[in-house]
Amino acid sequence: MTAVIDDVLPQGEEKTKRVRAMFDAIAPRYEFVNHLLTFGLDRRWRRRAVRDLRLPAGSVILDVASGTGDFSREVTTQGLRAVATDLSRGMLEASKDTVAKVQADASLLPFVTGGFDGVTCGYALRNFTDLQGTFNEMARVLRPGGRLSILEVAEPEKGLWRFGFDLWFRRIVPVLGGLLSDREAYRYLPRSTAYLPAREELRAMLVEAGFSGVNHRLILGGLSQQFLATRSA
Ligand SMILES: C[S@@+](CC[C@H](N)C(=O)[O-])C[C@H]1O[C@@H](n2cnc3c(N)ncnc32)[C@H](O)[C@@H]1O
Repeated sequence: MTAVIDDVLPQGEEKTKRVRAMFDAIAPRYEFVNHLLTFGLDRRWRRRAVRDLRLPAGSVILDVASGTGDFSREVTTQGLRAVATDLSRGMLEASKDTVAKVQADASLLPFVTGGFDGVTCGYALRNFTDLQGTFNEMARVLRPGGRLSILEVAEPEKGLWRFGFDLWFRRIVPVLGGLLSDREAYRYLPRSTAYLPAREELRAMLVEAGFSGVNHRLILGGLSQQFLATRSA
């Protein structure tokens, strides 16, 4: 496997290129390692995130930055219809799902305006190069009243959760991830949180993109976070 991200976090097109190469490289073992490193808790968080869309059976959901399909699979399990899109061909190919898959950059989605009832996006915000452009595209492809559910990592602010987070995410994950998959990729993972704007900034960006009723909640002591929002009419 290749080392694709070095010490200085890349920006702009360089970031897009390296992020794509990194996910292509880790794709074959991504799900196995991911579920191991999160003790499978991410499955439960996705289940709730899809339920929170509160959309009727048969609604069509675009899973943005779908990776190997963890979110799309949950969408289908809950009786909704999923379309998966991701920048990395390797991640899409590693997915065993039969849902429609489209390789694309999330900031330039090749879908018609207002064509989806819902959008999901799991643990990808910090990987996007153009975050505002991506939120704009999520809003564009949603019909008015359509629902958005986003999951992302968070950093507990203090106390035991903070201590545990630093130990696990910053010290153990890079070593375990390196042993099980790609050393450079799992060194990058904890450092990539530096790309993530603060919660209030993210909320403002969603409003700017055309979302209303933006709701934020922290999950499990602040280890993860969820944004829920509705496409304004
Ligand atoms: C940490 S993985 C999460 C995958 C999946 N959503 C999940 O919950 O397991 C992040 C994903 O974002 C994708 N990604 C990164 N930058 C992207 C972009 N600009 N457009 C679309 N997908 C992107 C990566 O290829 C990768 O599959």
